[in-house]
Amino acid sequence: MEALVEFDKQGRGVAGRLTAALRTAIEQRRLPAGSRLPSTRELAADLGVSRGVVVEAYEQLVAEGWLVGRRGSGTTVAAAVPVREATATVDFVPVGLLPLRPGVPDLGLFPRAAWRRAYEQVLTTMTDAVLDYGDPAGPLAVREQLAAYLGRVRAARVTAADLLLTSGAAQAFTILSRMLLAAGHRCVAIEDPGSRGVHDQLATALPVLPVPVDDQGIEVDALSRSAARAVVLTPAHQFPTGVVLSPARRAQVIAWARRTGGLIIEDDYDAEFRYDRDPVGCLQGIAPDVTVAVGSASKALAPALRLGWLSAPVEHLPAIRTQQRSIDLGGPALEQYAFAHLLGSGGYDRHLRRARRTYRTRRDALVAALTEFLPGMPIHGVAAGLHLVLQLPAGVDDAAVAVAARRAGLAPVALSACRLTDGHPGLVLGYAAHTPDELTAAVAILAGIVRSA
Ligand SMILES: Cc1ncc(COP(=O)(O)O)c(C=O)c1O
Repeated sequence: MEALVEFDKQGRGVAGRLTAALRTAIEQRRLPAGSRLPSTRELAADLGVSRGVVVEAYEQLVAEGWLVGRRGSGTTVAAAVPVREATATVDFVPVGLLPLRPGVPDLGLFPRAAWRRAYEQVLTTMTDAVLDYGDPAGPLAVREQLAAYLGRVRAARVTAADLLLTSGAAQAFTILSRMLLAAGHRCVAIEDPGSRGVHDQLATALPVLPVPVDDQGIEVDALSRSAARAVVLTPAHQFPTGVVLSPARRAQVIAWARRTGGLIIEDDYDAEFRYDRDPVGCLQGIAPDVTVAVGSASKALAPALRLGWLSAPVEHLPAIRTQQRSIDLGGPALEQYAFAHLLGSGGYDRHLRRARRTYRTRRDALVAALTEFLPGMPIHGVAAGLHLVLQLPAGVDDAAVAVAARRAGLAPVALSACRLTDGHPGLVLGYAAHTPDELTAAVAILAGIVRSA
């Protein structure tokens, strides 16, 4: 226990520092949900502090909802940890559009002229009622347009009635996590490695359970052995490894959901960008009864639009709508209508075709530069998306490489930063936002850093 809670035992405010250390240990899952804490007497002896200090810390954490104390059965970590107030006060530090940063499209490709035309059309033709509070799930006409697009391009089986527009995929995950908690789920499984952002959004309501990913995608056997009855997946292009979920695993995960009454939450965040063939249809299209589809325009257009959506099996819709209404009274209707206009006019398809061509050339340039400057290092996940993974030799500290790269003006992400458990080191490298020459120059610098590591 002493190794789990490190804090300064000297001076005033010891109980406060112990409380904070315990809270951090719970938040970081070093004290997992349901685990039993030592008695106040034992912990006081263990840590070398007075029993009163431990009693005060336990009482505070019970009051905040982190711990559950029951007479006779001791003190345990709560199944659902409370919302982290602290995240609201963390300052935002922009990374900037540095070379190799994953997760951003080329913002210079944003279809400004088409967007201006679409927005103008909305302003010119809309009634005043559009400016009123509307359905928090978004205007029906926009959802109809989006449902048609998702059916055509992603082979999704959705209708306007089961779609909700959200503030990015991020809000969809926050809504879904709360919905799962209200429905009695005790945890939600995620891919490991996976997206830190998605992890944090889910963790606002539920403990998150990491399930390993191999070269076929999520290990469904491990998922089956876990307590989770809901899982968030990135089947089209696993984030960050880039693995496309194999047909066998697709079938296996759908069978798991149908057998256990489980729910698959499909994060279809960058599926439009597939380079070697047409994009594989989404999982929701073959298993709409057990799949929630989550999507976003952040990679296809721009993150600043905050345009996302989710579509769920009908029995979950009332609870999801309730959660959305409790979070916000609706999204930005004018942008949503403009988006619908872009979808309906073919402008979105044209933009995607152009972006796909550009990104393919950039991906090829990045792969060529890596092959030249860092020969022999395996490259994964090149078939789709806006990033790939460079595998580093075992024992290399990828976090240290990422820090050194940042000092050199590059922004790769360490694979270890995407993991909840140990695994092979690597770098997640974005290529969408820079020209082939810029990428080649970046790799030349990166190679020096990697070699000296
Ligand atoms: C795995 C994954 N899912 C979803 C998103 C999209 O998030 P949003 O729509 O909230 O911008 C991202 C963006 O970085 C992501 O990496």
